[in-house]
Amino acid sequence: MTPLRAVKGMNDVLPDEIGRWQRVEQVYARTLSLHGFREVRTPYVEPTSLFVRAIGEVTDVVEKEMYSFSHHDDALSLRPEGTAGAARAYVEHSVQTREPVTRWWYAGPMFRAERPQKGRYRQFYQLGAEIFGDGGPGCDAEMIDMLVSLLGELRVPGVEVLVNSLGGAGTRERHRDALVGYLTPRVAALSPTAQQRLKTNPLRILDSKDPRDQEVVGGAPSIHDFLDAGDRAHFAKLREYLDALRTPYTVDTKLVRGLDYYTRTLFEIKGAHEKLGAGSTLVGGGRYDAMVAGLGGPDVPAIGFAAGLERLLIASDLEAPAKGVDAMVAPIGEATVGAALELARDLRRHGIRCEVDTRGSSLKAQLRRANALGARIVLILGESELAEGVVQVKDLEARVEERLARGDAVRVVLDRLVAASRNVDARVPS
Ligand code: HAM
Repeated sequence: MTPLRAVKGMNDVLPDEIGRWQRVEQVYARTLSLHGFREVRTPYVEPTSLFVRAIGEVTDVVEKEMYSFSHHDDALSLRPEGTAGAARAYVEHSVQTREPVTRWWYAGPMFRAERPQKGRYRQFYQLGAEIFGDGGPGCDAEMIDMLVSLLGELRVPGVEVLVNSLGGAGTRERHRDALVGYLTPRVAALSPTAQQRLKTNPLRILDSKDPRDQEVVGGAPSIHDFLDAGDRAHFAKLREYLDALRTPYTVDTKLVRGLDYYTRTLFEIKGAHEKLGAGSTLVGGGRYDAMVAGLGGPDVPAIGFAAGLERLLIASDLEAPAKGVDAMVAPIGEATVGAALELARDLRRHGIRCEVDTRGSSLKAQLRRANALGARIVLILGESELAEGVVQVKDLEARVEERLARGDAVRVVLDRLVAASRNVDARVPS
């Protein structure tokens, strides 16, 4: 029988790797909470029509990358990103009636049927956030600055922030017309994909990686020639705030991104190319001031971002936290297993992470296991210890061994671990 394997592009995260994942998630949750964001959890499955309406029909994500299926009469899709679901939830629960500004963060898997490669998967995790109800450039700057600090805390080297403005809906229309006017006579020089996009989504040609397209696009009209006074003022203020915060950034007038909902501010944050290769974009985000109204909600502006968690992990120099347990209880002989389980329960009640070996292993094997688990302390319980009401406590790092009354063992172990400033939650339950 052929062994079953995970779906291509969808990966297991085994316990040896999970420590780094959790560290990043913890730093993320703390940073977002410092900025007033609260966690939201929306479903992994949404109506396909939500993504068509919110992301845009003529985008790679909606056209070719969604996992869509029908169930009875419903056309459903696994979420390819989190913004559409968050906006749907915001509208559905009339959140604007309860608070003028809403700050939500989320973390979880997204699904896109892309060609898998390093940093690009079919199930991947995003750390994202959305702000509803603040249309000003101040929160755009605050968000970008928060992300730069976050990446610093995650020890990501070579961070580069790119910003652009796409203007509002009218600006996009005017720019699109001018772009089509410029590209149409040059269509033969474009790549086949760009030739196709000229008919469907010409803006995307601007960020094509194909050298043929880049050559043509070099002289194309810039969106900045079409920004109206409001767009310009917004972008100028954003830059002013970023300068005041001393947050480094580069204006990239060709930055467009693959989702259709953006208006005005758009940004991307890249990490060191050496580590990430082609998938060097760690964070993508921007304003989408028309989405909430477009989904049948009130006219509420919004901005958000999402970071790819796997990419952050590739880019980050954060080390894995110490693994395993603090202590190991080693019963010698079957008669001592019950007492060993009780002793382990006591240790855990005092916040000491521990394991008990109930397989009847030899002391030597149990010490080897303690080492492998990273346990500092081993509590040995043989039949003679049991009879005398004592425990043999071995500190593997300090290389000391003492015979303690059973009633004193937990306190002594706790003292040893705290003194060694190990990562122990030493709260004693009342
Ligand atoms: P996005 O640019 O499509 O934006 O994705 C954001 C980030 O998710 C990317 O920069 C990348 O790090 C990660 N990512 C995307 N696709 C993959 C993949 N196939 N494998 C691994 N990582 C991936 C959004 O999703 C928007 N919802 C961001 C946003 C929020 N805009 C406003 N609010």
